[in-house]
Amino acid sequence: MIATVLSVLAIGFLLLLAGMVILPACFGSPWHPLKPETIQEIVEFAEIQPGEKIYDLGSGDGQVLIAAARKYKAVGVGLEIDPFKVWISRKLIRLAGVADRVTILRKNFFDFGSRDADVIYLYLTHQALDRLFPKILKYLKPSTRIVSYRFCLRNMQPCKTNRKQNLFMYRLDKGREINNYS
Ligand SMILES: C[S@@+](CC[C@H](N)C(=O)[O-])C[C@H]1O[C@@H](n2cnc3c(N)ncnc32)[C@H](O)[C@@H]1O
Repeated sequence: MIATVLSVLAIGFLLLLAGMVILPACFGSPWHPLKPETIQEIVEFAEIQPGEKIYDLGSGDGQVLIAAARKYKAVGVGLEIDPFKVWISRKLIRLAGVADRVTILRKNFFDFGSRDADVIYLYLTHQALDRLFPKILKYLKPSTRIVSYRFCLRNMQPCKTNRKQNLFMYRLDKGREINNYS
């Protein structure tokens, strides 16, 4: 009996580990929860206007989309590969009272193909960004703002960075030269 319970717990733990660590690490980027002040800084930096549509590619616990919907009445869509984070973020979205504005799709962001993004928010590794860009650009409107946290887009020139130089904004209608950030 005890052996069965322990086996079930071990299998559950391995499935959770696979979902939270192994799957994201293999497909794109691992997860690091953000501090509340960082989330606020990201949504302010993105200059979100009420009703704008923001996509978070690799949406984790959904906190950036929740903050954007609460503070700026944005419409949020998250793409997340890990079923556990999809489940938890949907719960958090309901708890925050923004379920009418924020949707989480259990989806690989390399299959992103929506054409209605006003803002694309990214907190991914250089390897994942290099796979996404420039392919993703063909789906984006010229007015789309791309906001990347911690990792710059290596072949594009940001139109804005924050003081700490860990937030980068790109506009498709502005320069696409090589930049000097690492
Ligand atoms: C560094 S976290 C960022 C989470 C969230 N965007 C934030 O800023 O707090 C990266 C997220 O991307 C997810 N992820 C990794 N590869 C992915 C893929 N190919 N498709 C969808 N989500 C992916 C991970 O599970 C993880 O939640």
